[in-house]
Amino acid sequence: MVETAQPGRDAMGPGASSPLPDHSVVPGVWSRITNLDVDRGEGSWLITRDGERYLDYSSGIGVANTGHAHPRVAAAVATQAAKLLHGQQNILYHEPGLRLYDRLRGLLPGGPWQAFLSNSGAEAVEASVKLSRVATGRPAILAFRYGYHGRTAQTMALTTAKDVYRAAFEPLPGSVYHTAYPYCYRAPGGGHAPDACTCDWEAQLDLTFRQLIYPDRVAAVIVEPVLGEGGYIVPPPGFLPRLREITRQHGILLIADEVQTGFGRTGELFAVQHWGVEPDIVVIAKGIASGLPLSGILARAELMAAWKPGTHGGTYGGNVVSCAAANATLDVIEDEGLVANARERGAQFLAGLRSLAGRYAGVGDVRGLGLMLALELVRPGQGDGRVPDPELTKRIQTEALGRRLIVLTAGTYANVIRIIPPLVTTADEVALALSVLDESLAAAGA
Ligand SMILES: Cc1ncc(COP(=O)(O)O)c(C=O)c1O
Repeated sequence: MVETAQPGRDAMGPGASSPLPDHSVVPGVWSRITNLDVDRGEGSWLITRDGERYLDYSSGIGVANTGHAHPRVAAAVATQAAKLLHGQQNILYHEPGLRLYDRLRGLLPGGPWQAFLSNSGAEAVEASVKLSRVATGRPAILAFRYGYHGRTAQTMALTTAKDVYRAAFEPLPGSVYHTAYPYCYRAPGGGHAPDACTCDWEAQLDLTFRQLIYPDRVAAVIVEPVLGEGGYIVPPPGFLPRLREITRQHGILLIADEVQTGFGRTGELFAVQHWGVEPDIVVIAKGIASGLPLSGILARAELMAAWKPGTHGGTYGGNVVSCAAANATLDVIEDEGLVANARERGAQFLAGLRSLAGRYAGVGDVRGLGLMLALELVRPGQGDGRVPDPELTKRIQTEALGRRLIVLTAGTYANVIRIIPPLVTTADEVALALSVLDESLAAAGA
């Protein structure tokens, strides 16, 4: 095949001095919210090749909890990379891995936990499903409407956050059932604060057991303690404790998908700690290694023992450089008090968002836990006052980007502005983001 020169591309092929290829080299399946060409990151900031600074309140979708390129994490990665890049877990032990496995044992109350380490969030969710089925001998998995668990075949089957994540890929793996998540703002009869929520999730779960699947055929219920991609939905206080009771009553394992909520994001190291709930399996990823690919599940040793050697694994799981990054990440979270900072900056941010909501009729709901925050945008005066407004949401995001603040959107109706700052963010940065959001809401016509 004769290669022809592409626009903006050196006909001699890539090299240090050649111009960059244009964006068409990247397949369009990667939906993208900016065209920023980023050279480096520092704390809460991303810096383009032109030297423009953007306040990154996406954190690379909830990953850069320690901020971009934290010097301690970067140093740990560089040191480890110079020694060993890949130490395969079926073949050998390595010190960063052993250290990390040991630290993960006591990270969450209810242990000691054993970890199985893998690479992506979806891969870890897959592991949680496999372990649940093998440990219980039951086939079915129960997930929640609005939930997001990934884009592999099994995790697509669990995911209902949006049609785009699954609808084009039928048939999906079977024996997966969905029940209602308590989305208090959209509860029948009007928008409600979580402590006055009228969601009938428990009745819906009961119906699910009566109409779709016997509870004694259910291996596990998988739940996001705070729902992420589906709309940053904080459940009412009684939800997780009651779900824990119900699952215990039926011998069903409880899987907490803490891929997005973990490692300090919500103002506790793990979100389940807000409600004192002890899951059987905890799925971890994203914030664990500050950007290097690493994920895993935590389960108690008796449960982990249900897995016979070789029934699960993978070439890269628990990569040595990722483990070194994770150990440094845990050090930074601890030494810099990032969980407390998430609580404090989260309270500051939430108060600011609430005051914005009082001034802009298009803001239907404000919610969040720690530094996992959301504005839900609606069309005031239409329907029951909660008609989603995805166009307004997009305009706000675009206005914010024009003012050099990066925020994401979320939600089944794409009408939620989703704010995920790095946990190192400062009070001044939060104040700046709030003033940019204020201007953006005004400019977008909220
Ligand atoms: C709650 C939750 N589970 C699973 C995943 C999938 O993780 P990954 O994209 O690393 O496969 C995500 C990703 O956003 C998530 O938020």
